[in-house]
Amino acid sequence: MPVVIVVGAQWGDEGKGKVVDYLTKKAEIVARFQGGHNAGHTVVIKDKKYVLHLIPSGILHKGTTCIIGNGVVVEPSALIGEIEGLRAKGIPVKKNLLVSKNAHLIMPYHIALDKACETSKGKKSIGTTGRGIGPTYVDKMARSGIRVGDLLTPELFMEKLQANVRHVNVLLKNLYNQKGFSAKKIFDEYAGYTRKLSVHIADTDLIINRAIAAGKNVLLEGAQGTLLDIDHGTYPFVTSSSAVAGGACTGLGIGPTKISKVLGIVKAYTTRVGSGPFPTELHDATGELIREKGGEFGATTGRPRRCGWLDTVILKHAAMINGLSGMVITKLDILDGFSTIKICTGYRYRGKLLTEMPKELGIFENCIPVYEEMAGWQGSTAGISSFSKLPKEARAYIKRIEELVGVRADIISTGQKRDELITLREHF
Ligand code: GDP
Ligand code: IMO
Ligand code: MG
Repeated sequence: MPVVIVVGAQWGDEGKGKVVDYLTKKAEIVARFQGGHNAGHTVVIKDKKYVLHLIPSGILHKGTTCIIGNGVVVEPSALIGEIEGLRAKGIPVKKNLLVSKNAHLIMPYHIALDKACETSKGKKSIGTTGRGIGPTYVDKMARSGIRVGDLLTPELFMEKLQANVRHVNVLLKNLYNQKGFSAKKIFDEYAGYTRKLSVHIADTDLIINRAIAAGKNVLLEGAQGTLLDIDHGTYPFVTSSSAVAGGACTGLGIGPTKISKVLGIVKAYTTRVGSGPFPTELHDATGELIREKGGEFGATTGRPRRCGWLDTVILKHAAMINGLSGMVITKLDILDGFSTIKICTGYRYRGKLLTEMPKELGIFENCIPVYEEMAGWQGSTAGISSFSKLPKEARAYIKRIEELVGVRADIISTGQKRDELITLREHF
C-alpha cells in the first residue's frame, strides 16, 4: 500500500538502481519522475550487470509495471536502444513499460545545443553528459517543447517541429557558428521511433493514481541527486530537473498526501562527476584508492568520478529538503581496510565554522571541511546481511552518520548484488 520515493542524497550515483531493484521485489509499480538518459543506474543480478538509463530499475522483475513519468525527458532512440538491449538479454519489455504522453522529447537540436553551449563555456563548463537534458527542459519551461503524446498526431508534431527548428537554426548559426537542422529529416526519423514506441505511450497519471487507490505498492525512482537538483543543488553546477522528493509529485502527477516514505540513498563516502564545488574531495592517494576500490567511473559516460569522504553537512541539507524518513547507506564494503575514516561535520570559511550548507556558490567552493576521525575496520563487510555481523567500527560508523544527519539507516548495502544488504526496516 505505501508509496515510497527513492532519491539520491548526494551528487548522484549513490546506488539508487541497486536499491530500487531490491525494493521492487514487493512493488507493483516502479516509476521514474525526472531526468533522462543522463542517468546510469546499475543493477547486478548474479553475474549479470544491467545499466538502466531511462527505464526504471524495476524492469528486471516480472509482473512489475514500469512508468516513465511526465517529468522525464525522453530521447526516443536511446529509449528504443535500451528496450532492445534488455530484450536481447531475455528481459520482456512490452506493455510492462509505459511512457507518459506529457513527457518531453529530447530532439537532435537539444543535443547539439547542449554540446555547443558547453564548448562555448570553456573552463566554466558544467561537464554535462551531453545528452541534451538542459535545452530540453528549457523548451519545456518556455512552453515550446514537443511531448511524447505529440508523436501520435503527426501534423501537430510537424507544426511544432518546424517552429522550433526555425528558432534553433538561427541560434546554432549565429551564436555557435554551426549547421542547422532539417525539420523534414527529423520528422522522418521520429516517425520511425513512433512506430516502435506507440504501444508504450499512455496516460500514466491515471494509471499510477488508480494503482495507489487500489492499495498497490508503488515505488518512485529518482535520478541524479539532491545536490544536482535545479533548485536545491549546487547551482549552476546541477542538472536541469527536480531531483528531490518534491519532484516525484509533479513529475508523475501524484498528490503529496499520497506519499508514505522518502528514502535517501547515501553512499558511505562522496562522489561527483562533472564540475562544481565538492568540499570533501580528495586529490591524493586515498581518493585514488576509493575510486579504484569503488569502481567509481561513470555508468553513462565512463568518466572517472571525483571521490572524497562522507559529508554530513550536505546530507543534513538533503534530509531537510527531501523530508527523508530513512537512509540507505551503500558501498560500506568499499571502506573495508582503511585504518581511519573521516566524516565531515562542518566547514571552515574565512575562520568561521559553518554547520549548514551555504547557498552562495562563492562561499561553498571555498569551504574547508572540518573532520571527525573514526577508527576503520580491517575485516571484510562484503555481502554481510546482518547488522550484528558487521565489525564494531563499521557499526559505529553507521550510528555516527545517523546521529549527525538525524535520520535512521533503514538499509545498509554491502555489495553490488541484489541481496548483498542488511535490511533494518521493511518498506512495503
Ligand atoms: P545510481 O546512479 O545511483 O543507480 O548508481 P550507479 O549505478 O551509477 O553507481 C553505483 C555503483 O555502485 C554501481 O556500479 C553499483 O553496482 C555499485 N553498488 C551499489 N551498491 C553497492 C554496494 O553496496 N557495494 C558495492 N561494492 N557496490 C555497490
Ligand atoms: P544518476 O541518476 C551523477 C551530472 C553531470 C553534470 C551535471 C549536469 O546515475 O545518479 P546533465 O547532462 O544532466 O545536464 O549534466 O549533472 N549528472 C550526473 N552525475 N549521476 C547522474 O545520474 C547524473 N546525471 C547528470 O555529470 O555534472
Ligand atoms: Mg549513476
